[in-house]
Amino acid sequence: MKFAWNESSRQTQTDLGGSRAMLHYWNCQGKAGIPDMQEDLRTLSINVLAATAFLKPYDFIGSTDLRNRESSTESYRDCLHVVLKYAIFLMLVPYRFLTGAMLPHSLASIGRAAMSLKGFMMNIITEESAALSKGKPVSGGLITSLVRALDQKTPQQPDPGDFIRETKRSGLSVDEILGNIFVINIAGHDTTANTLVFTMMLLAANPEVQGWLHEEIITVTQGKPIGDWDYALFEQLKRCQAVFLETLRLYAPITGLPKITSRGVQILHIGDRPLAIPPGTEIFPLLLGIQTDPSYWVDPYVWRPSRWILHPKDAPEVREELFVPQKGTFFPWSEGPQNCVGKKFSQVEAVAVLACLFRDHRVCIKTRAGETEEHAKRRAQDCVNDVNYQLLLKMNHPDRVKLECMKV
Ligand code: HEM
Repeated sequence: MKFAWNESSRQTQTDLGGSRAMLHYWNCQGKAGIPDMQEDLRTLSINVLAATAFLKPYDFIGSTDLRNRESSTESYRDCLHVVLKYAIFLMLVPYRFLTGAMLPHSLASIGRAAMSLKGFMMNIITEESAALSKGKPVSGGLITSLVRALDQKTPQQPDPGDFIRETKRSGLSVDEILGNIFVINIAGHDTTANTLVFTMMLLAANPEVQGWLHEEIITVTQGKPIGDWDYALFEQLKRCQAVFLETLRLYAPITGLPKITSRGVQILHIGDRPLAIPPGTEIFPLLLGIQTDPSYWVDPYVWRPSRWILHPKDAPEVREELFVPQKGTFFPWSEGPQNCVGKKFSQVEAVAVLACLFRDHRVCIKTRAGETEEHAKRRAQDCVNDVNYQLLLKMNHPDRVKLECMKV
């Protein structure tokens, strides 16, 4: 499937992070089941980010191969993988302290990955700056947009090194660009990957929803090979969108949004009672509270994607429409001017993954000896509800329920 950063941009299009390769890998595992679904979806999500936003395409590598292979400091994807895995550790220990011969190999390799990643980013910025300043064709990825922000108010420089060094603070500084690239990587990776892990487990526990998805994918794609699918299909895949939205309603990766009121008094309306919040007050809206409030959601704790699908009676030519929740009752990407910049990106990615997977395949739970299907479904549902919150909402033991992938 071709995948674009957004509708208006004609920027990078790439095979979706190797989703077909992932599918092939899952399919080849047969009755043994998928070794590590979570790891595979993280790999896929890194590939999508690396290829689409940072123009570094990589092949998909399955979890077992990934485990048996030393990560390379020559590869942007491998360095990113290590840095994201140890992001919290690197926030506490700056990578410049992770060098030196006396350091254990495991720590030194984290330091090397972080250093290489910065080197990669600097190279891309330098190349893009040089191309922009000389009027040469640019890559057109996300970095081009960031470098343009650097470029905008500064005079053209013949040498890219000088260009970067002499850039004034009127646009973005190089450090700010590096920071932005890093934040986008952090914010865009596990959020989508985790939601896909929840989605996959929930779909395995609810096979009838997979059939419902399959029906839509077949109708919309009309036998077109996956390689020819494009962005235009995204809007039509309402049920795939519904599955993703319903998962985010109950299992949003960010469950609360730390905020602070600005200089003025903010008025919050609770029913018909106004509540004045003084300036500079820290507030923490808990979105899972509102997203499971029975005043707005029928059977709030039931994962039911079909609640997002409407059948407009006054426009029979429109087959299905997506339900738009009342403002302020669903905001997994936050709301307002500071909301998530990757909202569309994550939606397109998730829909593309679901469409690729469920066109010809199904995932099901690998039952234990003597276990009924009903019991296995309950086990998967319990696994989905056994969560923790370390930076993001995650399942404690996704590995306790093994999934199988099969062609239908
Ligand atoms: C299911 C997927 C995702 C969810 C639920 C999600 C949710 C959020 C939320 C709740 C915020 C905080 C907004 C606020 O402060 O009010 C945020 C910020 C952000 N998101 Fe996402 N996001 C997702 C995917 C992505 C993707 C794919 C990207 C990039 C490609 C991305 C990039 C960002 C960035 C750059 C920020 C701002 C971070 C900051 O200000 O420090 N997100 N996201």
